[in-house]
Amino acid sequence: MPKKVYKVGRDAFETDEARLQKALERYHEGKGLIGGDPRRRPRWIHPLPPEPAHAFRLMQSSPEHLERLRAFLAAAPLEVEIGSGPGDFILDWAKKHPHRHFLAFEVKWKLIRDMVKRMEEEGIENLWVSDDDARFDLPRLLQPNSVEVFHILFPDPWWKPKHQPRRLFVPPFVDVLALLLKPGGVLRAATDVPGYAEAMRNVVEAHPDFLPHNPDLAVRFADAAPTSRQAFCDEIGRPYQFLYFQKRWSEADDTSQVGAGSQRRNE
Ligand SMILES: C[S@@+](CC[C@H](N)C(=O)[O-])C[C@H]1O[C@@H](n2cnc3c(N)ncnc32)[C@H](O)[C@@H]1O
Repeated sequence: MPKKVYKVGRDAFETDEARLQKALERYHEGKGLIGGDPRRRPRWIHPLPPEPAHAFRLMQSSPEHLERLRAFLAAAPLEVEIGSGPGDFILDWAKKHPHRHFLAFEVKWKLIRDMVKRMEEEGIENLWVSDDDARFDLPRLLQPNSVEVFHILFPDPWWKPKHQPRRLFVPPFVDVLALLLKPGGVLRAATDVPGYAEAMRNVVEAHPDFLPHNPDLAVRFADAAPTSRQAFCDEIGRPYQFLYFQKRWSEADDTSQVGAGSQRRNE
């Protein structure tokens, strides 16, 4: 049996376009943030592991802690995971890449607390985590052109029309990802929701900074551990798809680079 049993979900990925567009017009006001806009939150109910543990909240952690975080983010090549669940992928990936730095967002507080426990038990020092909504923190925390890889693996489809503004693959958030990725950086995504992969491709490939999905980039991640949802899908034989979008090297560029940058291929 898989460690965690997930809901399989609906047969098709649908969007209430009119309602979503209306909500996205207010995206920059914080519309749809999970837990509400943290600038207006009167108090946080759940405590984070005490500082200096590698967990933070942008609107709550001390200035010294956030200073340590910013220094960490700038000190080595950076990869970011959004929606890490229990952290099965990122904890293993951080251990496999001790000379890179990692940042993981997961809005479920208990999962973050348990990840910090595992990080401490397993001596993982190159990872910081947060239960903030990544969509709030990322543009406030990171510099443009600073991220080598974004991992968005099995994101919630947010089926209900009123929850669709929470989706990560919407134009204003894809703008943020494009801005923060380094030229040549990779947005790595996965989904088992029928129709969501097409929706991801539509929104990312419509962005002028991204090249089309390039399956050749998978080799870079060949030894990545499965996420919890991926393990569940493997267990029940449910198909899923990985997608790899590289940020263009320059506006005129229509090529992508595979691996460390020596091999170039024409699209
Ligand atoms: C379907 S689960 C997949 C978890 C994990 N990636 C996996 O494959 O097992 C999606 C996770 O993303 C988290 N999440 C959704 N939107 C988020 C956001 N804006 N910021 C941070 N976490 C988010 C949810 O709490 C949930 O745990």
